[in-house]
Amino acid sequence: MNRRRIIAGNWKLNGTLKEALELTQGVLKALSSLSEEVEVVLCPPFTALSKVGELLKGSRIRLGAQDVHWEPKGAFTGEVSAPLLKEAGCRFCIIGHSERRLWFGETDSNVHKKLLALIEEGLHPILCVGETLEQRQRGHTWEIIRRQLEAALEGLEPLAAARHLVIAYEPVWAIGTGQNATPAQAQEVHAKIRGWLSTRFGKAQAQSIRIQYGGSVKPENAKELLAQTDVDGALVGGSSLQVKSFVQIVESSPQGRQAPCCTG
Ligand code: 13P
Repeated sequence: MNRRRIIAGNWKLNGTLKEALELTQGVLKALSSLSEEVEVVLCPPFTALSKVGELLKGSRIRLGAQDVHWEPKGAFTGEVSAPLLKEAGCRFCIIGHSERRLWFGETDSNVHKKLLALIEEGLHPILCVGETLEQRQRGHTWEIIRRQLEAALEGLEPLAAARHLVIAYEPVWAIGTGQNATPAQAQEVHAKIRGWLSTRFGKAQAQSIRIQYGGSVKPENAKELLAQTDVDGALVGGSSLQVKSFVQIVESSPQGRQAPCCTG
């Protein structure tokens, strides 16, 4: 089974519509001969989704959103639903990002509802998990991540997980700080996540679920991070806002890796 690498740019709250379209055009041009082994996803702010989606049509670069509401419609002022994201051309949606957990009261139980709503629409959730510096220093890293995984993926069928799920390990202390996790630190957590997925969904399913690393990914550190056995891609913040650095990261990605074949 082949785990295709996945490099996603999380633009967060950056750029006007004009800037978003320029960035998209730059990425499209630079990646016009993108290898089939690498999947690239752009996640602009909500207001740019439709227009960026139009530019991406017919290309191999995918559109993603940065959040979603779990209800399909109704009296939920300020929210955007999975069907609307799909209509705008999204195939992916980030959920549970630590910035949402920290600043906007995102809870594990809401992340769970969002995940199910996305899968219901056939979209791919990019589920973010990760520990704070304090949690790491106290030796609680795995306990925190396991709790986040258990809550978000509760009741999910193995087939749906294998088909739709992407996980992003984003240590909070590495986000926007310039201090990335070392390749060994990332690999250690990714391997534990895959082990947990294997127990939860079965070995074959766990082998097909992609786990991205996020947190100060830059052209200078991408190659080594992406070379780790269980690091299947990157979720890139700051460095995704410039064509050059984002494309360099995409190009640092090794070809899609042959995962060991397993029967579950
Ligand atoms: P930076 O790459 O800016 O550290 O952000 C990472 C991130 O939060 C991606 O979702």
